[in-house]
Amino acid sequence: MQERKRNLPRWLRGLSARLLVLTMFFVMISEVLIYVPSIARFRLMFLENRIADAHLASLALKATPDNVVSRPLEMELLANAMVRGIVLKRQEARVMMLMDDMPPRVDTTYDLRAAGALQLIADAFATLVQGDRTLRVVGRFPDQSEGSLEVIVDETQLYAAMIDYSTNIMKLSLIISLLTASLVYLSLQLLMVLPMRRITASLVAFRKAPENANSMIAKSTRGDEIGKAERELHHMQDGLRAALTQKAHLAALGVAVSKINHDLRNILATAQLVSDRLGDVQDPTVRQVAPRLMQSIDRAIELCSQTLSFGRADEAAPNPVAFALCDLVDDLPAFAGLPSDGSITWRNDVPAEIIVKADREQIFRVLMNLARNAIQAMPQGGEISLAARCDGTAVVVEFGDNGPGLPDKARQHLFEPFTGSARAEGTGLGLAIAKELLVAHGGDLTLLRSGPGGTVFRIDLPGDRR
Ligand SMILES: Nc1ncnc2c1ncn2[C@@H]1O[C@H](COP(=O)(O)OP(=O)(O)O)[C@@H](O)[C@H]1O
Ligand SMILES: [Mg+2]
Repeated sequence: MQERKRNLPRWLRGLSARLLVLTMFFVMISEVLIYVPSIARFRLMFLENRIADAHLASLALKATPDNVVSRPLEMELLANAMVRGIVLKRQEARVMMLMDDMPPRVDTTYDLRAAGALQLIADAFATLVQGDRTLRVVGRFPDQSEGSLEVIVDETQLYAAMIDYSTNIMKLSLIISLLTASLVYLSLQLLMVLPMRRITASLVAFRKAPENANSMIAKSTRGDEIGKAERELHHMQDGLRAALTQKAHLAALGVAVSKINHDLRNILATAQLVSDRLGDVQDPTVRQVAPRLMQSIDRAIELCSQTLSFGRADEAAPNPVAFALCDLVDDLPAFAGLPSDGSITWRNDVPAEIIVKADREQIFRVLMNLARNAIQAMPQGGEISLAARCDGTAVVVEFGDNGPGLPDKARQHLFEPFTGSARAEGTGLGLAIAKELLVAHGGDLTLLRSGPGGTVFRIDLPGDRR
């Protein structure tokens, strides 16, 4: 199909050329539909005229006392009526007759008094196909009186007249279809094809250089659908261009921030090394401030690390492997930094048979962020519990704690980077990163419930079954 399209001649590939050809084709079809009944009508008129002429000729017979005219006059009357014989019948008795010297053998008889429209069409096409028969045509007296009038006609004359008529109709149809097609073509060209070309050209130019304001389509004043499409396209390009510019700025800013962050983290790491040594100093003032200093440095390092990992737009795509979720949850407490006094209990209710297919490292980071938040929310201790169940091919994990619930500020900007934090030392990145990682897996992170009794997050993960 595709191949055949490409093989079309170049001029036929455009919208306008196809419209031109189609319009001509459709006009020709309608002309044919008009031609069929009209050729039947033409034949009927031709034969009715013969009947009428024959009637006139027969009047000459009436004028004679014994209904007989001289042979030369008889021939002249027949020639004038363009027939080879005339028979007038009253109540089935022949009353008068004019005949050629060689009475012809009749091939077909047509009775014009009884023929329906479809029959007339079929008879007309029979004439066009055969064309050389001798016909007996029966008609009514033109004066509507009783009886019938028969004429013997050579079909060749009728055939010639019909061919003549058809040729004229054909020429006329061609002229009309050309004229109509040209007019339709021109108006479509003006109304649709040219604007479509404008839109297409603008789309191509915009794709090549979206930041170039000149590649945008001009704002249209047309009131029709094309005008609407042009205006919508203009708005879209405008919005897209602004968004792209902003994105480029943000990307540049992000690069700068991550560079600063990276260096800062190294500097802080050095500071951490140095401050660790302060622990050994016996001076009481130093002993008093050292822990706070170390805590601040830790926080600063955490901020740098989180920001860096969020800024990594090229976060590696998940590398899904099948693993038992239960085992991963068991590994967590050792890394999440549970208080050493055992005030927080870690409950793993994940059934051992639940297997997820996901990037183990990234899911570990997700659970780690949630665990850190829960630990930070429960300084007096509490319980963190994880449960999971299969939901079709997906796995639903519920991550809950019995802490004080989300503060209002956190709830308003939940999952929004940098703004979601309600803690003085928070970055507001933990939940945003966790959600982003899960969405990249085709999963999600949502807040199930939160209140004075605790907070439960829901994690949707792809299961191992397909
Ligand atoms: N389990 C939880 N219980 C109570 N508050 C929570 C919990 N998890 C998150 N929060 C609140 O949501 C905020 C946003 O968390 P997060 O995105 O990880 O940023 P950060 O931890 O850096 O503040 C936190 O500041 C905290 O106030
Ligand atoms: Mg956090």
